[in-house]
Amino acid sequence: MQIPGPTNVPDRVLRALSQPTIDHRGPEFSRLAREVLEGLKLIFKTSSPVVLYPSSGTGAWEAALVNTLSPGDKILMFETGHFATLWRNVAVRFGLDVDFVPGDWRHGVDPAIVEAKLCEDRKQEIKAVAVVHNETSTGVTSRVAEVRKAIDRARHPTLLMVDTISSLASINYRHDEWGVDVTIGCSQKGLMLPPGLGLNAVSDKALAASKSARLPKSYWDWDAMIDLNPSGFFPYTPATNLLYGLRESIQMLLEEGLERVFVRHRRLAEATRRAVTAWELELLCLNPEECSSSLTAVLMPEGYDADEFRKLVLQKFNMSLGNGLGKLKGKVFRIGHLGDFNELMLAGTLSGIEMGLALARIPFSKGGVTEALDYLSSQ
Ligand SMILES: Cc1ncc(COP(=O)(O)O)c(C=O)c1O
Repeated sequence: MQIPGPTNVPDRVLRALSQPTIDHRGPEFSRLAREVLEGLKLIFKTSSPVVLYPSSGTGAWEAALVNTLSPGDKILMFETGHFATLWRNVAVRFGLDVDFVPGDWRHGVDPAIVEAKLCEDRKQEIKAVAVVHNETSTGVTSRVAEVRKAIDRARHPTLLMVDTISSLASINYRHDEWGVDVTIGCSQKGLMLPPGLGLNAVSDKALAASKSARLPKSYWDWDAMIDLNPSGFFPYTPATNLLYGLRESIQMLLEEGLERVFVRHRRLAEATRRAVTAWELELLCLNPEECSSSLTAVLMPEGYDADEFRKLVLQKFNMSLGNGLGKLKGKVFRIGHLGDFNELMLAGTLSGIEMGLALARIPFSKGGVTEALDYLSSQ
């Protein structure tokens, strides 16, 4: 499976998941919950609470919005790709007034536009700026630290919300240092778990905003979670076995060291891009500074269908590559290189692609795998 999430679940995590389901109101569970909630703070790089839902990432998006905003509030969002568009749709359904800055799906958020939009907003009506850190549909990573600086230069009190669904525990991310108010995450990507956990890291400012926010909420209410979590309990039945897995995956990430995890992802991503360039195929990401370390989206040559190519690679080599989403359907394939992933897995992935390109008679140059291996062995 080389899609950009869900990612391959390592054996250590699979074994942890298979432990017996215990009483979620008993002392053993309380210890487990407190351990993972503290561990998650290290992953988000925050000292603030992290709220953990039994949900997909979409639930964690909704939680971020309904806890902090009121009907009709203005929110600034950016069309960086398919997931940014879906998040916008959630905001619109809740009656938020979304300024959706158009984009070409090949660049990240432009900090200069953030600054200009906030400076124009003299009455300071914009309540939140929402950014997808790593657009999983395009393989483009936005510069969140620079977006923060742009907000500061505009001296605007807006909240900053960041979707780190495909960057958390893969690409450098710092919730506290970058002054992010709500960070959205989930289990099935860099955390190397199956789907089923949604995450919100919540700053003091976001928590204060939640006290007067009037969008309707019940399941997603932070208050109930934050009240009970210090004792190791949840307001409703948590995903007990996923928490066993989460304890193990946090342990694995800390053993390797988060900074080294980021370097590993950067290296494998660079090797992937070198292979794509050697194949003389085109990267979707246009700005080299914004190319993602967790996935690479590759444009198909004109007249060739990416989904036909993916189908052939699956049939011949039992390897799933990511498809093109939304307006990119059939136009790109995506190589996931995040989570539990190493040099030899990448070598296999790139070999499958190179053989698939030849079998599908797609015009390309051979040698991408060699180029990637040369890079990896010279570092
Ligand atoms: C960047 C990003 N945001 C949000 C989502 C939605 O998450 P989910 O499908 O778990 O609801 C995804 C899913 O892949 C994603 O990649």
